[in-house]
Amino acid sequence: MSEFPKGFLWGAACASYQCEGAWNEDGKGPSIWDDFCHDKGKNHVANDDTGDVACNTYHRYEEDAELMRKVGLEVYRFSVSWPRIFPQGTGTVNEAGLDYYGRLIDALLERKIEPWVTLYHWDLPSALQKKGGWLNRDTAVAFGEYAAVLAKRFDGRVKTYMTINEPECVVGLGYGNGIHAPGLKLSERDQALCMQNLVLAHGIAAKALRRYSSAPLQIGVVPCGRLCYPLADTPESVEASYRATFDLSRDSWTFTFNSFLDSCIFHRYDDSAPGFLKEAAAAVPQSDWDLIEPPDFIGINVYQGDGTDENGALVRRYEGFPVTAVKWGVTPEVMRFGPRHLYRRYGLPMYITENGQACNDRIFLDGQVHDPDRIDYLHRYLLELKKGIEEGAPVKGYLQWSFLDNFEWSAGYSERFGIVYVDYPAQRRILKDSARFYAEVIKSNGKCL
Ligand code: NOJ
Repeated sequence: MSEFPKGFLWGAACASYQCEGAWNEDGKGPSIWDDFCHDKGKNHVANDDTGDVACNTYHRYEEDAELMRKVGLEVYRFSVSWPRIFPQGTGTVNEAGLDYYGRLIDALLERKIEPWVTLYHWDLPSALQKKGGWLNRDTAVAFGEYAAVLAKRFDGRVKTYMTINEPECVVGLGYGNGIHAPGLKLSERDQALCMQNLVLAHGIAAKALRRYSSAPLQIGVVPCGRLCYPLADTPESVEASYRATFDLSRDSWTFTFNSFLDSCIFHRYDDSAPGFLKEAAAAVPQSDWDLIEPPDFIGINVYQGDGTDENGALVRRYEGFPVTAVKWGVTPEVMRFGPRHLYRRYGLPMYITENGQACNDRIFLDGQVHDPDRIDYLHRYLLELKKGIEEGAPVKGYLQWSFLDNFEWSAGYSERFGIVYVDYPAQRRILKDSARFYAEVIKSNGKCL
């Protein structure tokens, strides 16, 4: 295959709570995920696993950065743990927390890996949850204070920020069905309010980041949701899959890209939105809308899509349809049509900020970790991504989820998404075959596919 466009970026991603460990070290305050995991015996997390130690990247970041260099990563997307910086969510700054991220950023820069920083990947300071968390508008204001501190400290070293990771999951899983921290099951009206506060938090934080950075920044947001692709490649089916992707009246409105992005970019919802969502947006004062500007880019986390027919109806998967170890459909076409649909609606450049698959990885008798399923998945998804780009979707880079195996939220350590195997008891890292495959992809800018 021909190469990806010149300057296309290749990288990988992870999030603080999923890999750092050191949950109570060096002045860090507790987060809602610490509380959720420590509330054992409630079935919150498989095997009552916690992120207390995880991959211990808080102490092993240097070794991990070196592995990233070996694989050839150009970008590493990580998130900052808000309670490491503000143990109480606001007020006093914990210098030791800032120092840790400073060291991580330097370790990456020394190896010519660009640090891409996500401000919020779900570990809200517990102190803020006690005051209502995302139901409380003050949380958005505190988020701006936190963003300002990061911008000042990392000025000149970090040029790409993402404000919020998957606001749809923050709301739908954390405040909707309660399977994620803080484990609440609020009414849809309250969930809609949380969503508007997250949109506001994005706006306030983006403004603070720009205000306190001397160099131009690239600021994105990373939503997720239903992405439909047409089962037949006809103009009618493509059109129907576009409509189905952004139809807020279907299934759950929370798990749509537009539940966050329409509010953030257009400051309103379309006719398909349920009444309470429109009302929540209508209640936002103009002075708040003035703080909310479109992001510079959309980060897309994409794992599987929904195949639709020429009427946009979801087509049930046939028996034996290929699925990953966690039963997510293997649907490479979503990489071609998802970015096209998002570009058509929002007209913004995009990065694939997450993509990957969980496998039942283990160390084989030869001491290696062989993961042909993951290689095949990556290969297929990248081929389709290339088609989408050729058809006009401006996707500027691809980040693999994840570099290391890590803590997969309510599934604990039972799901392995890494291209590097983590032998948790020994805290040993082993490059999987897919890491070598990905290294070739990066080296040839996709030509080897
Ligand atoms: C998206 C989330 O951002 C990430 O934290 C999670 O581990 C992956 N999906 C895989 O489920």
